[in-house]
Amino acid sequence: MQAFQRVLEVGELADPGKTLVEVDGEMLALFHVGGTYYALDDVCTHDGGPLADGELADHTIACPRHGAKFDIRTGGALTMPAVRATRAHRVKVEDGGVWVALGEPPASAAIGGGPALSSSALPIASATPAATAQPAPTPVAGNGAATEAALAQGPLSEDRVREMLKEVKDPELFVNIVDLGLIYGVSFSEAEEAGKQCVSVDMTMTSPACPAGPQLIADTKRVVSTHPDVAAVEVRIVMDPPWTPERMTDDARDQLGIF
Ligand code: FES
Repeated sequence: MQAFQRVLEVGELADPGKTLVEVDGEMLALFHVGGTYYALDDVCTHDGGPLADGELADHTIACPRHGAKFDIRTGGALTMPAVRATRAHRVKVEDGGVWVALGEPPASAAIGGGPALSSSALPIASATPAATAQPAPTPVAGNGAATEAALAQGPLSEDRVREMLKEVKDPELFVNIVDLGLIYGVSFSEAEEAGKQCVSVDMTMTSPACPAGPQLIADTKRVVSTHPDVAAVEVRIVMDPPWTPERMTDDARDQLGIF
């Protein structure tokens, strides 16, 4: 177990207030709310945003990058696009000082998946792993080629492409990219081959460094290419306007348990 280190003098940090402290070479976000101190890793589990720079409201800190919220008391992720808790640390007040001891990494606070989640969005309501855990979602693989083939029937149109793209699911969230709001547009141009179209899909990511990006692009190309009238598929990544959780459909919210 890590030893406590004195990081501040009592009275140094306003209430409510937040600051950055260093313990054993690690940067932590220290909070003072309602007369109690709390410490979390200064790292948003979505994409590494600095939590100490975020907006503090009651016992919630909002990541300054994409707005994921965390409970400062537990580190639990409360809103998308974070999917797992950030580490919380032990804090005590003693001898006129504020002391922090590094905590253990969260055992499993991921929602909808394993501990490796890191990029996209989602639910989360409570801080404890037991409260946040949900039944493991069914991976996409089960739908298979038969579904894709069925979706590829009928005239080529934006609606048809969007339906087909519902077969492409975020590997971390298990929600399709259409309902996640990642598809900004679909356009067509005549291909050289008679009767065929080139399809261009404007897609965004939940964050610029989304690790699922290459897979989502490849799956999008593969799925749209199954339509017999498609000669080529181009995927353009669009980061402006940035993705926000408001872009999700009600279906996606239902799947993610967000209300
Ligand atoms: S880095 Fe924190 S919400 Fe994206």
